Amino acid sequence: MRDGALVVIRPLDPTDREAYLDLFDGIGPESRYRRFLGPKRQLTAAEVRYFLEVDHHDHEALVAIDVSTGTGLGVARFVRDRMDPGVADSAITVVDAAQGRGVGGALLARLAERAREEGVDRLSADVLQENRRMVAMLLHRGGRPAPGGGAGVRHFELPLNS
Ligand SMILES: CC(C)(COP(=O)(O)OP(=O)(O)OC[C@H]1O[C@@H](n2cnc3c(N)ncnc32)[C@H](O)[C@@H]1OP(=O)(O)O)[C@@H](O)C(=O)NCCC(=O)NCCS
Repeated sequence: MRDGALVVIRPLDPTDREAYLDLFDGIGPESRYRRFLGPKRQLTAAEVRYFLEVDHHDHEALVAIDVSTGTGLGVARFVRDRMDPGVADSAITVVDAAQGRGVGGALLARLAERAREEGVDRLSADVLQENRRMVAMLLHRGGRPAPGGGAGVRHFELPLNS
């Protein structure tokens, strides 16, 4: 990372349940709002299953782990569009204590690689207009605003050059 901390990024799997729930606890209300585009106080059991039991092809989830502490710092995922398999919706969340250190950028880079490996041509993302950090991250990597998104939400597409 930018501060020299050693972080590994690897696929998430169902055995990560506790680590995943700890990670969710480290995401404050504002960050949750930005991730889920609305308030999110807790995850239901069905949501936890959905977020952890991914097939690594149409739905991939990656976790960033601080090697020195073993704690989860962030998660990135894509979910392929059923109607348009070349596109996958993406989302990234970094725990509040680790934001601004390059974890999100590293997760997005690895997510883009994984998406490309699975035949995805472009990642899409719905981002709150006020979410300057996420908007900057997408724009700096070639993301472009695209039609879509609701009130206060911008829809982006990030082409994945093969
Ligand atoms: C958005 C988020 C994933 C970014 O992760 P991060 O680890 O904090 O971000 P990074 O440190 O990797 O920096 C990302 C970019 O934001 C830029 N940035 C940092 N602070 C910024 C600010 N206040 N305003 C504008 N840009 C900013 C950085 O320069 C960097 O750009 P670059 O990588 O192109 O140089 C993270 O902040 C987060 O989880 N936010 C809450 C949830 C969320 O918004 N998720 C996105 C929903 S799609």
